[in-house]
Amino acid sequence: MSLHDFLATADALERDGVATIAAADSFEAIDAARNDLLSRKSGRLTELMRQLPSIPEAERRDAGATINRVKETLAAALDRRRDEVGARAPAAPALDLSMPARRRWLGAKHPVTLVIEEIEGIFAELGFTVATGPEAELEWYNFGALNFPADHPAMDMHDTLYLEGAGDGALLRTHTSPVQVRTLQSHEPPIRILAPGNVYRRDFFDASHAPMFAQIEGMAVDEGVSFVDLQATLTHFANRFFGEVPTRFRPSYFPFTEPSAEMDVACRICGGSGCPSCKGTGWMEILGSGMIHPSVLEAAGLDSERYTGWAFGMGPARIAMLRYQIPDIRLLYDSDVRFLEQFTT
Ligand code: PHE
Repeated sequence: MSLHDFLATADALERDGVATIAAADSFEAIDAARNDLLSRKSGRLTELMRQLPSIPEAERRDAGATINRVKETLAAALDRRRDEVGARAPAAPALDLSMPARRRWLGAKHPVTLVIEEIEGIFAELGFTVATGPEAELEWYNFGALNFPADHPAMDMHDTLYLEGAGDGALLRTHTSPVQVRTLQSHEPPIRILAPGNVYRRDFFDASHAPMFAQIEGMAVDEGVSFVDLQATLTHFANRFFGEVPTRFRPSYFPFTEPSAEMDVACRICGGSGCPSCKGTGWMEILGSGMIHPSVLEAAGLDSERYTGWAFGMGPARIAMLRYQIPDIRLLYDSDVRFLEQFTT
């Protein structure tokens, strides 16, 4: 190869290389250009250097100097381009690390569930265990065994949803009291149970009624259990649940308890002086209770001469409304997150 051709090829390689480097837009492209131009094994400059021996000896010095100059130019251009590309902000960042993390979305227990669990906890300390029974119940357990005579007007107290076609007087239980009978049939006294669960009534869905709602039944049966135990236990419960609070028992009527009593606690809003929430009475009713009627014990197969017991039933939705001052029962069924998230703990 003549020196003239050699120098011309070297010039072309330099021009070409500088242009390629200037156009390289990423570290990958710069590395590829470096490899193509300067790689020791197969780079274009190495290829040209291999031609050196074919240059007449006297002219080889010039040729070598040119090769070195081109090499330095290209290496410097590559380094400069690397700095330029590195200093540039990435065009479209794949991951924006400056963005705040999305807050974790925590589920929460429903206020009625919170109330049920708290009540279960208080009674658990007194030796009560949780019992359950079916929501689709037989008429006998819901009414008959609980001393409702077939023609008794008390049966109208519950507007019942009967299950057509299920036969044998099947219905959706109107209260949790049938769990009393089922437990008395399957367990020997002493018995202390708490039975939370849903019940159904043919009520319009308004601010204070729902066609399905939760109840909590409680029952204690043994030899020598008296009304004093009922009063002491339920008063203790009210003080644990609401804080020290005046309570009172009022005579009431249920077919399955005798005597029967409704329990009130002093109004949570006015403290007892009377306000619209308690309709001026100063009291709020929280549960129905009484000594289990001997006929109920006998219907379940127990000797009512030997055993006595007491029972109560309360509505945890009502209790939740009193405690959290919820004005409309429908809020408990809406599943509106803005309402429910107030109960996250
Ligand atoms: N079952 C009654 C009701 O639904 C409540 C109750 C339970 C009363 C146990 C006395 C004893 O209203």
